[in-house]
Amino acid sequence: MSEPLLEVSNLVQEFTVRGGGGVKAGVVHAVSGVSFSVEPGETLGLVGETGSGKSTLARAVLQAPRPKSGSVRFRGTELVGLKHRQLVRARRHMQLVFQDPFGSLDPKWRARALVEEPLVAFKVGSKGERRRRVDELLDVVGLDPSRFGNRRPRELSGGQAQRVAIARALALDPSLIICDEAVSSLDVLIRAQVLNLLERLRSELGLAYLFIAHDLALVKQVSDRVAVMYLGKVVEIGPADSLYREPLHPYTVALLASIPSPDPEQPQAPVGKAIHGEPPSPIDPPSGCRFRTRCPRAQDLCATLEPPLRELAANHYAACHFPVTVDAPAPEASAEEAARAESTPTVPVATPTVPVATQPSRPPTVRRPS
Ligand SMILES: Nc1ncnc2c1ncn2[C@@H]1O[C@H](COP(=O)(O)OP(=O)(O)OP(=O)(O)O)[C@@H](O)[C@H]1O
Ligand code: SF4
Ligand SMILES: [Mg+2]
Repeated sequence: MSEPLLEVSNLVQEFTVRGGGGVKAGVVHAVSGVSFSVEPGETLGLVGETGSGKSTLARAVLQAPRPKSGSVRFRGTELVGLKHRQLVRARRHMQLVFQDPFGSLDPKWRARALVEEPLVAFKVGSKGERRRRVDELLDVVGLDPSRFGNRRPRELSGGQAQRVAIARALALDPSLIICDEAVSSLDVLIRAQVLNLLERLRSELGLAYLFIAHDLALVKQVSDRVAVMYLGKVVEIGPADSLYREPLHPYTVALLASIPSPDPEQPQAPVGKAIHGEPPSPIDPPSGCRFRTRCPRAQDLCATLEPPLRELAANHYAACHFPVTVDAPAPEASAEEAARAESTPTVPVATPTVPVATQPSRPPTVRRPS
């Protein structure tokens, strides 16, 4: 089998926080031993409550800042420990698109200069070639270069500015784009257009995405697989269809139950399923399973033994001693029963590709530069 495009193993990122007088007040365990992979052309969705570590994980993958420990292999190269110059070169094919294009784009620069900047930084092509490439990229993201090329970010709408950010991310011909809440601040219509653009780029350029968002319905719509994060850990990861249809981890169940119902007769989450309370502090996470202080299925074992991520259905993993699945032991089951259940994987599932909403208008076809 070919190597994954991105392979992250046991990634750890921690921040020391200091109180008055610079005295160490504690360590934020923002990302604690996270492992996952992304295949070429795949979209991996990443969901979790605010503060669960999604952005920190994305930045640790990019080595900005460098993680405390762990491994990040991208296109066969280990990024952790690379010298700055090699890192910049290796990272060229991995780009990040942020939530707020107005925050990520320099307000003084015009759209053309913003898109050209990575090409200049990497000394790609002559001035004329770069100019043609920039116009092509603006075209690709659905912006007429003659109309929008000379505008500054504040002269663009949110959706247009995000298209400039995407054109800029595409400039160096990436194979992976990390979208950190990239469509979250856009209104519904513009969001659908940008999502369609991302999907089209994926199919035409073979791009892969790590797609980070709060909105579970949105993540399902765009992802092949989904990873769920809680307090610095991936607690469940699997094919989108399987994870949404048969969630295995109580936290995923709670997250799914908190999606507002489209049924006006039943707007509330099912009783007893929605998540309650605030997550504990990442400075002092609970022992054993980090979700145990909010978990309706928690047992004594959960406080003493950290549940490993294990495969409970085909390609579908969860870190829970008492997962929510037909064949798993009930919450009151003993530790021995839980251990026995560990060797009993359940329902196999296929990996689906979920198309995004119908595209309103189709900008020109994309081609990779030769
Ligand atoms: N530089 C930093 N110093 C100290 N703590 C940090 C730092 N960056 C992030 N954190 C903490 O790490 C944890 C994870 O933050 P992160 O921004 O990764 O969460 P998130 O899942 O992206 O949240 P959101 O959904 O709100 O964007 C939080 O508790 C946050 O306060
Ligand atoms: S390991 Fe225990 S506390 Fe953690 S999610 Fe599973 S049942 Fe709940
Ligand atoms: Mg974030």
